[in-house]
Amino acid sequence: MSTLAVVGLGSSLGDRARTLALAVRAMDAMEGVDVVATSRVYRSRPMGPARGHFLNAAVAVQTSRSARDLLGALKSLERRLGRRPSARWSDRAIDIDILLFGRLIRRGRELRLPHPGLLDRGFAFVPAVEVAPAAVHPVLGLPLASLPVPLEPGLRPVGVLPRPVAGLVARRYLRPPVQRAPGIPPSPRLRSRTMKFFLDTANIDEIREAHSWGIIDGVTTNPSLIAREGGDFIETIAQICDIVEGPVSAETVAMDADGIIREGRLLAQVSPHVVVKVPLTMEGLKATRALSDDGIDVNVTLCFQPMQALMAAKAGAAYISPFLGRLDDIASDGVALVEQIVAIYGNYPELGTEVLAASIRHPQHMTAVALAGADVATLPFAALKKMIHHPLTDSGLARFLADWDGVPDNDVTAAVERYLAKRQG
Ligand code: E4P
Repeated sequence: MSTLAVVGLGSSLGDRARTLALAVRAMDAMEGVDVVATSRVYRSRPMGPARGHFLNAAVAVQTSRSARDLLGALKSLERRLGRRPSARWSDRAIDIDILLFGRLIRRGRELRLPHPGLLDRGFAFVPAVEVAPAAVHPVLGLPLASLPVPLEPGLRPVGVLPRPVAGLVARRYLRPPVQRAPGIPPSPRLRSRTMKFFLDTANIDEIREAHSWGIIDGVTTNPSLIAREGGDFIETIAQICDIVEGPVSAETVAMDADGIIREGRLLAQVSPHVVVKVPLTMEGLKATRALSDDGIDVNVTLCFQPMQALMAAKAGAAYISPFLGRLDDIASDGVALVEQIVAIYGNYPELGTEVLAASIRHPQHMTAVALAGADVATLPFAALKKMIHHPLTDSGLARFLADWDGVPDNDVTAAVERYLAKRQG
């Protein structure tokens, strides 16, 4: 899974231009990060207590890392390039911020996406548009190039950043959006986000198999699923993260906020892909706030009514897990709960919490939550397999193959190879 991220750079101390150039080279050398476009370097006036002028720039990177992992790597790069702790807005050797990370919206203290200053600071916005004009601002749903440029007196270009080594890649990823004739609406495929599929299991064989189909974005586990598999559960979580390289929920079991926070901080160190799963209790909400302020993604679980979901979102949850199957089991309407949460979150997109439909039992549930617009659905392997099959697909295929038997010379590979060889000369 690769994401286009826009990273802003600033420096007001020392050899500013050299520090910015070094930062670009170091980013390009990071594992899982390709710098695909670099902006001009701008001179800007200092804000707050800073006294020196700033040089600002931006790069677009294509990355296989998670937002949290990329942020950690950039903060450690800042330290390597001489950034020392200092008062807010004071002079600094280097400042590196993620401005956009795909369409991710996060509101933790560490990880705030899109960057809250992106739209009203010219020194951040102007270079960002240069490197990724077609990148969509996830809250506004519009490409950066279509947004108004914030006024910033004194901002002027004074140089350029080093060209990206992955320059060829840039052309592939940064193509401007297809222009359509007036009156033709954009195709729904371009407009919509994709519903992510998570596998709801801790069984490594099932995860490997489903992952090989190329459609699994992440995994959810819970204490019952882990207990079912036996073995060392941390090794299991680490192994799942290595296979899927996407979000993997690992659940805390402490009941008090301090205990949940402690467990969550430790679990998050197992892999950058770990999402800490926290129960929807008062203590769980306190822990959600603290963990998301640390930049840790939290999945708030065991949600059965819409106001629980709103509270989890306000506490900074990255995901909310409404359990629809368990509501259906007691003759309530699980799908209606997902619909209500999607509608409520849709009213307040800045919340940034994704709706993860959980406790899914069969393909009908999947159809219903896809229609409702859930961001993610997590389902057991058995339910995933059922989604592939239809008796008419099987009988239709059998009929095609039977008819094909009547075609003379019907070996496709041999026939195409013969044809291509003849055409070449
Ligand atoms: C996933 O996050 C949940 O723990 C899971 O979907 C619960 O499913 P169940 O109701 O089938 O146990």
